[in-house]
Amino acid sequence: MKFNRRNFIRSASVIAAFTISEMQALAAKSQIVTDGKVIDDDDETYWHNVRQSFPLSKDWTYLNNGTFGPSPFPVIEAIHNAMMDQDREGNYGGYDSTPGKLAKFVGANENEIALTRNVTEGINIACWGVPLQAGDEVILTTHEHVGNALPWLNRQKQHGIVIKKYTPASTADETLNRIASLITKRTRVIATPHIPCTQGQVLPVKSICRLAKDKGIFSLIDGAHGAGMMPLNLHDMGCDTYATCSHKWMLGPKGTGFLYVRKEFQETLTPHYGGGGTDNGKWDLMTDPVTVGDYAPSAHRYFGGTQANALYTGVNAAIDFIETIGQANIHNRIKYLGHYTQNRLLEFGHRIELLTPTEERSRCAVNGFRIKGVDYQKFYNLCAENKIRIRQVPENGLNCLRVSTHIYNNTSEVDKMIDLIKKSV
Ligand SMILES: Cc1ncc(COP(=O)(O)O)c(C=O)c1O
Repeated sequence: MKFNRRNFIRSASVIAAFTISEMQALAAKSQIVTDGKVIDDDDETYWHNVRQSFPLSKDWTYLNNGTFGPSPFPVIEAIHNAMMDQDREGNYGGYDSTPGKLAKFVGANENEIALTRNVTEGINIACWGVPLQAGDEVILTTHEHVGNALPWLNRQKQHGIVIKKYTPASTADETLNRIASLITKRTRVIATPHIPCTQGQVLPVKSICRLAKDKGIFSLIDGAHGAGMMPLNLHDMGCDTYATCSHKWMLGPKGTGFLYVRKEFQETLTPHYGGGGTDNGKWDLMTDPVTVGDYAPSAHRYFGGTQANALYTGVNAAIDFIETIGQANIHNRIKYLGHYTQNRLLEFGHRIELLTPTEERSRCAVNGFRIKGVDYQKFYNLCAENKIRIRQVPENGLNCLRVSTHIYNNTSEVDKMIDLIKKSV
């Protein structure tokens, strides 16, 4: 649904429980329809109108989209309406349009999308389904989120696989060299993040997938930060699986994700869950012997049972919201703010250690840094006291700070954090 004034007025009665200011914000959203036009990344009036579509409190500066993306009003409203419909009329199901819509959004086919609750679930389906034997090697980074570390460490514990690791370099080419140098005859999987949670560097996933393919290695991508941050074409990327979510850069409902599994790879990736929707409907316990049936002829083989219908309606609304503004416009604005943040941090010279590369292709919305001589937790607490939300990054001993900005942010919000750094150094 595209947003316009008529839609706003029609929906206003449904959300009568909202406060006046929230209603005003809803009205403002009618000014953000782009109809495919290019919006300048520094068009502050346009982006200010976009901000009015979010219930974000004016008291807080939210610079932590990497953890989760706040949803705009239309998403919240869609969830509310879907719950009302379901509970009023007893509808069952209703999420059926979501895999197709998600597929179109990320450049895949509908039969390649499995719905999940989060990235962690998608990674686990991929990790436990890929055929591995003791001694087989899996390549990870030293910057993994727990969600892409523990599944593989658990397989090491249970099946004796071997984990090899590399630290992402400051250039994409050098990162590729590091991965290539780890490959041996036993390498079976490269399980790399698209964008690590630590410092938000954009890794050269397409080249990584090409390298993997050339060597007969599976490429299982942790795409937590990909969907919504940038236009995606997973067929073009060439990965075997891509686990992502709707609750970060897609600004969708929390607890919704999806796993892309390349169609041909579905014959290799074993499904381990069974239930409503995961087979071709031929199972039968009354025959003798019992009838097993085949797996569903799609990625539905990886998820079954009752789904969060209302939340998936919210996912559909999140895609509509993104497309109302335009994914390319969003990406440009996100990049602009990420670039602005880097420049402000670099003004401090040697007093700030910027951990995110400045190479154009390797940077986007997220920046990681340390402040020389200032404990990262102390600065994190100072931000919280001043109602600025950033993230501390204790993962893998990195002990740094992370700022992540989305379309609802502006440069003055970044400046607020910069002012706190000035007081701290
Ligand atoms: C790179 C990365 N991978 C995986 C995850 C886990 O995501 P989820 O909480 O949706 O399972 C996150 C969450 O922040 C992440 O940043």
